[in-house]
Amino acid sequence: QRAAFSSSGAARAVSGRIAVIGGGQMGSGIAQVAATHKHDVTLVDVSQEALERGRGYMAKSLKRVAKKQFPEDAQAQGRFVDEVLGRVSLSTSPAAAVGDAGLVIEAVVENIKVKQELFAGLAAAAPEGAILASNTSSLPIARIAEPLSAERKRRFLGLHFFNPVPQMKLVEVVRTDAADQQAVDDAVAFVKGIGKVPAVCKDTPGFIVNRLLLPYMMEAIRLLERDVASAQDIDTAMKLGAGYPMGPFQLCDYVGLDTIKFIVDGWHKEGQGLVGDKLFAPSAKLDELVAKGHLGVKTGKGFYEY
Ligand code: NAI
Repeated sequence: QRAAFSSSGAARAVSGRIAVIGGGQMGSGIAQVAATHKHDVTLVDVSQEALERGRGYMAKSLKRVAKKQFPEDAQAQGRFVDEVLGRVSLSTSPAAAVGDAGLVIEAVVENIKVKQELFAGLAAAAPEGAILASNTSSLPIARIAEPLSAERKRRFLGLHFFNPVPQMKLVEVVRTDAADQQAVDDAVAFVKGIGKVPAVCKDTPGFIVNRLLLPYMMEAIRLLERDVASAQDIDTAMKLGAGYPMGPFQLCDYVGLDTIKFIVDGWHKEGQGLVGDKLFAPSAKLDELVAKGHLGVKTGKGFYEY
């Protein structure tokens, strides 16, 4: 698998370990996929408990993959899971984890201060040529990189994965104005090498997918607020009329209503050229559901009950 991406055009392979900082939903998925494609990975989180939880997510997901890959062979399934998990080391020390990393992918909480401080430390400890990347959904990549040197900024990118990482094929490769073409090429080669499909884009709010999806979701909520149709009928309409696999309310519940509110509020209030933009104006319906703790699938209730 490694050869597959080291031979892709002029792109250079990412060599060395992959360090993934943050072992939650996204980080554990990224670590799992990299390890499945033969990378040695170190997964970092704040406590042993969080790391064990991350390992649990990976084991559960890998067992599903193994069952599909070796449907009749329980031993082969076990070997596959053990082999992949065997390539993932766990650590509570970011500095130690990035010491020999060729690529560092950050997937910690969505908080600019936390990310900036983390990267200041990572930059001091990572090898000079390492690519440093953030999996942020809603924060400007250039702002996360602000504390770093000009040299570091040349190899600092967004690598935006989608949830659930093992299933979702797309990775947005986000380039700031300060990034080198070589860093973009290296990241693209890495993404292809782990079986994903890259889409390169500039560092603008929402990148490609969320920039289009969030206005769509918000407009769906506004249709509901204006009592144009029920959530069920809007979902049915978009599934059968537009060929979408999920309707907008199913999608909102799946993503998490708190996450949607956090992103649109952020863009509307302080957002990177989007301040006051009507597309991201607050919605009373969304605010009410979030205030009640009805956040979607994860809490058992959102626009629908689960
Ligand atoms: P999560 O809450 O499941 O996981 C975050 C993990 O980071 C937790 O295990 C936490 O203990 C750990 N953490 C927090 N501070 C840390 C630090 N300083 N050092 C090391 N670990 C630390 O969150 P999730 O959903 O995995 O999101 C992580 C990032 O990925 C966020 O930036 C989010 O915007 C982005 N993202 C999330 C998507 C999603 O659908 N959940 C999709 C794409 C990107």
